[in-house]
Amino acid sequence: MEASAPREINYLRLSVTDRCQLRCFYCTYWQDWQKLPTGEILSYEELLRLAGIAAGLGIRKVRVTGGEPLVRRGVVGFLQSLHRVPGIEEVCLTTNGVRLADLAPALYDTGLRHLNLSLDTLRRERYREITGQDQLEQVMAGLERAVTLGLGPVKINCVVMAGINEDELVDLALLARDHPYQVRFIELMPTVSPRQWQQNFLPMAEVRRRLAVLGPMVAAERRTTDGPAQIYRLPGFQGELGFITPISAHHCRTCNRLRLTAAGALRPCLFGDAEIDLKTPLRQGASDSWLASLFAGAISQKSARFSLPPASFPLHGSSMVSIGG
Ligand code: GTP
Ligand code: 5AD
Repeated sequence: MEASAPREINYLRLSVTDRCQLRCFYCTYWQDWQKLPTGEILSYEELLRLAGIAAGLGIRKVRVTGGEPLVRRGVVGFLQSLHRVPGIEEVCLTTNGVRLADLAPALYDTGLRHLNLSLDTLRRERYREITGQDQLEQVMAGLERAVTLGLGPVKINCVVMAGINEDELVDLALLARDHPYQVRFIELMPTVSPRQWQQNFLPMAEVRRRLAVLGPMVAAERRTTDGPAQIYRLPGFQGELGFITPISAHHCRTCNRLRLTAAGALRPCLFGDAEIDLKTPLRQGASDSWLASLFAGAISQKSARFSLPPASFPLHGSSMVSIGG
């Protein structure tokens, strides 16, 4: 166990659906992954109530995730309402971008600015191989539309996979030279079979070694609501590069977030299998103070734990598509 001062838990990830149009192999690997029946997914009213309770306990940033959040009907109105929850200062969205070209104006009007986009390749055929769908052009059109409207800061998430997209690292990084994006490289987490993970995992030290051709990287300052990425600036770049190292350098000490799964369970840790069921008490008429005590329990569980959870096979619980990354 490492000793450390208590952290501020100020960031909640809300998965609003386990549905997604794409089938990225690392996200939906599990054969036994079954879509939740609609009634098992929290309603927007339930989500807003929980967000309000969480805000009362110090949550200031909410990231809406999925599955793919933009496939859920009514998500634009939900984002609008989330912006009005007292205490929530930052509302963010992580999307695959497939519906972005259509929805960007409505999203902008909700007040949304913080947009994270999953994009592992700039090559059409490869995109189809990774995701199972021929949607790269649509995603790039969505990104352009969003940026033209003024949505931003934009962060691009690239999961690095040896033998799959490792030859595109520089091309992907150059997006941050030519646009004001934060391009983040992410180590592949063990959500696939051990054999496949061993084949495709590329440590971030190697990614950074290969990106050294771009020039010297200078570390940027962190804010308390920042996620797990380490951010760097480079000369001549409009944007920045980020590195997310869940395997080679994960630090529980700086983890500031809780996750609410689409099924209404609170997860203190992505790598742990502990879940606190909020849906049952919520639907049995629990009071705000009772629900707040469940949140507080998750927060104190987190604050008390500083050990590094080993990345194990499989990543506990369920596939990423249900947890929301
Ligand atoms: P911001 O920093 O707020 O932009 O968010 P984020 O990077 O946490 O969110 P995003 O949804 O874009 O996730 C990016 C990647 O980081 C995904 O691969 C996540 O699974 C991974 N990630 C998110 N949360 C954690 C975490 O708590 N620990 C680790 N190690 N990785 C995480
Ligand atoms: N390893 C690394 N990143 C992953 N994501 C989903 N599954 C994995 C994994 N096994 C990423 C997606 C998305 C974010 C929310 O999570 O690429 O950008």
